Amino acid sequence: MPLPGKVRIFEVGPRDGLQNEAAPVSTAEKIELIHRLQDAGVSIIEATAFVSPKWVPQMADNAEVMAGIRRKPGVTYPVLVPNMKGLEAAIAAGADEAVVFGAATESFSKRNTNCTIDEGLARFEEVAQAAIAKGLRVRGDISVCLGCPYEGAVDPAAVVHVARALDAMGCYEITICDTIGTGTAGKTRAVIEAVAGHIPVGRLAGHFHDTYGQAVANVYAALECGIATFDSSIAGLGGCPYAKGATGNVATEDVLYLLDGLGIETGIDMRKLIDAGEYICGVIGRPTLSRAARAIRAKTA
Ligand code: HMG
Ligand code: MG
Repeated sequence: MPLPGKVRIFEVGPRDGLQNEAAPVSTAEKIELIHRLQDAGVSIIEATAFVSPKWVPQMADNAEVMAGIRRKPGVTYPVLVPNMKGLEAAIAAGADEAVVFGAATESFSKRNTNCTIDEGLARFEEVAQAAIAKGLRVRGDISVCLGCPYEGAVDPAAVVHVARALDAMGCYEITICDTIGTGTAGKTRAVIEAVAGHIPVGRLAGHFHDTYGQAVANVYAALECGIATFDSSIAGLGGCPYAKGATGNVATEDVLYLLDGLGIETGIDMRKLIDAGEYICGVIGRPTLSRAARAIRAKTA
């Protein structure tokens, strides 16, 4: 399949990137990060999560973050929503897109959302119906599609089961997530082909954590399959509190370097993106995990 001419970058840094940080990041700093990302041309920014603050304390200021964003025309600010309580709070905070998140294995579903796969899908169905009725778009993420920290290898048929259910409830986009970054290019292709047998590939997205250094290769494998939406995290931040040892998402700067090199349009300015990454790395006191950002900075310093 020819590579797409345009790719949507779905920036997850303010949510996936920060949710695992032990030290609190202030609301003002989260908002400043979002502003810097949109100034760099990022047009989809997952802003926060309306999950239980007991489960993920870093996202407890979700409503304050949403209230503080200077919304830019053309930019959407999806938020993670696990249940009706989260949806109600997200709607009250002015969210325009809800992201429900299921899993391809029972063990991960239980650890992450305290329910079985099918209980989770039943909750999401209620959330999706209510959200769509209120005019929100709904996206469905599927965790552990390429390996589970508790169950190991994952059968693509398990991913297909969840993807079809998310499709049937009206999710406009379904995201194949490699939560622990164990996926390789061949496995990535196999799971995408399995899901694309049921859902048009243009409605699929990829979300690859970079634990084993495979995420950029997996993005490329997914591009070759026809996927044109990728989740990534500024400076490579991130991880899931319920997937121990898993590191951050693929760095947005590294994905942009790949896409720029392929002549694929994203609308994002690399220099401003690197500035946004430096800003948040300064806040959390750690160097960037983006190889491209480090290399470009070293050359221009
Ligand atoms: P539970 O404990 O079974 O929930 O958690 P519950 O319905 O029994 O309620 C227990 C308490 O939580 C009650 O409060 C509820 O009101 C409250 P209490 O009466 O005890 O004071 N509660 C809430 N509070 C605020 N917002 C809510 C909410 N819901 C209940 N929405 C639940 C079930 C799903 C809520 C919990 O397991 C949860 O919040 N899980 C989310 C975990 C999470 O955020 N994980 C990280 C994000 S997913 C991820 O990173 C993967 C992804 O990046 C893709 C990938 O890489 O794979 C997306
Ligand atoms: Mg993730």
